[in-house]
Amino acid sequence: MRTLAWRSLRAEGRARLAQAGVDDPDQELRWIIERATGRTAAEQLADLDAAATEREVRFYDEMVARRVEGAPLQYVLGRWGFRTLDLLVDPRVLIPRPETEVVAGLAIEAARAVDRDAVVLDLGTGSGAIALSLAAELWPHVEVWATDRSPDALAVARANLAGLGSRSAAIRLAEGSWFDALPDEQRGRFDVIVSNPPYVAADEPLPAEVADWEPVSALISGPSGLEAIERIVAEAPAWLRPAGTLVLEIGETQGAAVLALARAAGFLEAHVEPDLAGRDRALVARRGGHDG
Ligand SMILES: C[S@@+](CC[C@H](N)C(=O)[O-])C[C@H]1O[C@@H](n2cnc3c(N)ncnc32)[C@H](O)[C@@H]1O
Repeated sequence: MRTLAWRSLRAEGRARLAQAGVDDPDQELRWIIERATGRTAAEQLADLDAAATEREVRFYDEMVARRVEGAPLQYVLGRWGFRTLDLLVDPRVLIPRPETEVVAGLAIEAARAVDRDAVVLDLGTGSGAIALSLAAELWPHVEVWATDRSPDALAVARANLAGLGSRSAAIRLAEGSWFDALPDEQRGRFDVIVSNPPYVAADEPLPAEVADWEPVSALISGPSGLEAIERIVAEAPAWLRPAGTLVLEIGETQGAAVLALARAAGFLEAHVEPDLAGRDRALVARRGGHDG
């Protein structure tokens, strides 16, 4: 095992990342070293001449090698920030995206508008990003159900739940395809249903870093890209309370189609919200009734 100071390890790692075509090798290296050593960026600079331990060198080398192979940085680090959370992520789940932070925010806003403890459902929870944000930000005034068809994804969500401490008591996980995961007695109980379902069409090209590493079943819906959204929009009214709200992440070209689906399913008010880049990103649809 090499005994090296961080100054030379960094220079070597930077050259390897740059040669592999990584866009911002300095920033990524800071994150990788922080993960290997627990040192913040400022501490890393102050400790450039400190010797790395064997364990640090092994972990650091492994992470740089995976990144050079093309693995997304989030999988290399094994964790990623989402709103207020630091989530475990690995190739069993989609990497939580910034646009989904906006979608989670819309669901949180809808749940806050309920004048008692809200009951919320997150369909296709993956890492648990949306469900855990609801529980973390609305605790203790919320009950969250989180489902996924993939047992692998639910295992990651369960691990993330463990990191939530006492607030994890707000969340129940259930396995199954969309609403089939839920016990029948939950029908008509939800104030908010939120989902970031697969919404990419089968023939749509995906960037290699996504197609080669992320679970395709989390992204591709079917030939049109709208299959999962169609099913969720059609079945949601039966699971929502009369004043309930559906919040769905959508593709930027799907706005008109999902508004038509929402109207056909009987939602009285529906509109599309943009993401931070101004692209159509979320359907917000209200049943428009009054809870008795
Ligand atoms: C786009 S990912 C979203 C993951 C997470 N909610 C997020 O926003 O980062 C879609 C998720 O839906 C799940 N999924 C796909 N088809 C499903 C189905 N028929 N029923 C339930 N979940 C499904 C996938 O396993 C995946 O975790």
